[in-house]
Amino acid sequence: MTPGARIQAAIEILEQVWSRNQAADRVADMYLKKRRYAGSSDRRGIQGTLYEILRRRSRLDWWVERSGSSLTAGPRSRLIANLALSDKSSPNQIATLFSGQNHCPDTLSETEHRLADALYGKPLNHSNMPSSVALEYPEWMHASFSALWGDKLKTEISALNQTAPVDIRVNTLKTTTEAAKSELKSQFIETEYTPLSPIGLRLIGKAQLGGTKAFRNGLVEVQDEGSQILALLCGAKPGMLVIDYCAGAGGKTLALAASMGSNRRIDGQLFACDISQNRINRMEPRLKRAGAKAVQRHALMGPDDLWLKKLYKSADRVLVDVPCTGTGAWRRDPNAKWHFTPKNLADICAQQKTIFSNAAKLVKLGGRLIYATCSLLHEENEQQLFDFLKHHNDFKLVPIEQVWSETIGGELSPTGSCLRLSPASTGTDGFFCTVLERA
Ligand SMILES: C[S@@+](CC[C@H](N)C(=O)[O-])C[C@H]1O[C@@H](n2cnc3c(N)ncnc32)[C@H](O)[C@@H]1O
Repeated sequence: MTPGARIQAAIEILEQVWSRNQAADRVADMYLKKRRYAGSSDRRGIQGTLYEILRRRSRLDWWVERSGSSLTAGPRSRLIANLALSDKSSPNQIATLFSGQNHCPDTLSETEHRLADALYGKPLNHSNMPSSVALEYPEWMHASFSALWGDKLKTEISALNQTAPVDIRVNTLKTTTEAAKSELKSQFIETEYTPLSPIGLRLIGKAQLGGTKAFRNGLVEVQDEGSQILALLCGAKPGMLVIDYCAGAGGKTLALAASMGSNRRIDGQLFACDISQNRINRMEPRLKRAGAKAVQRHALMGPDDLWLKKLYKSADRVLVDVPCTGTGAWRRDPNAKWHFTPKNLADICAQQKTIFSNAAKLVKLGGRLIYATCSLLHEENEQQLFDFLKHHNDFKLVPIEQVWSETIGGELSPTGSCLRLSPASTGTDGFFCTVLERA
């Protein structure tokens, strides 16, 4: 593909992402699957441009607004702005890429010419940009983030705008971390041990893991190190009754299954439920591959679900990985940050509060409830915890340092009522976790 054709492909993908509000990686995968002629360097080029635009969106929009071109921000104007500001392309060079020929983007309109002229030679970052524009986050989240991080705001948010590494969880139901590492190496896939998770490997460079024998045979799964840690902090062990209450498609269920493994099978009872039948269905092939078919799955019919009621006060461990704004996962889906409004946040918080207290009903005396999000917002984390404790005096906090040393041990020594992970502090996605025990 020519450079211009790659740009047109990025424009078409961005049009779909923004008009249909879909996840960029899925749209890009589908788009590229249908275009077999795109070779690996074309794919890399297209994805590179795509993520550049997504990660620079608010700065590009700031410049488009000030260009005097009367253009509004959209896939083409953002692409043109990026070429001028980041690649330092001249208006002529941009016009050559937008030739309208051989799958290249249509020729520049008069206003687009004006945009390219106005931005040529300008820097992408400008000292007049407000913090939310310069650091690429929704303005309405500023109060929350600055209260949380203070003078670390820039470091924390900048790290959230970087590319995330690919982490792999080794399935200890089937193998060991060392053996999985050698197996991947034998297929020319280089990895290193993750610094915090004892069951994690981090990819060095790029690789298509899905096609490997190690993946097909269920030895490994792609999972961020932070997610692995959350599952480990549950302290699930052989013989226990464990419930993954918001199991989704089973990312953490699989990790819990491995924690409960004994002689290569799950020892104890592991239940996975979710409100979404579709997600519960998507778990099935993953469980099969991982050798964890014994997991009992259920799509919830609401808080009065009979299946659920039978499990009241019976679980040693309940993981409640609630739906959230996903602010901690912005490295992987930078477009997601623009979906939420203050009203959405208020709705999600109300949902989290209900789910948290419904899940608590399942915990037996002496059992543990693990509340987790992949959000960094105080409202979805500490605020939910304080609120829960106000209304549930039969639960007490287990200090996170105690949980960490019981379940993971080793390097990190967090203290206090909860664990916060973030790209800047731990090199993982952003997560929150707190552990409560029924007294
Ligand atoms: C953060 S995701 C869970 C991700 C999953 N634990 C994993 O590791 O892949 C939150 C999940 O909560 C589910 N959910 C939403 N409302 C729920 C409810 N009222 N009860 C149970 N699950 C719910 C959503 O369908 C979604 O799958």
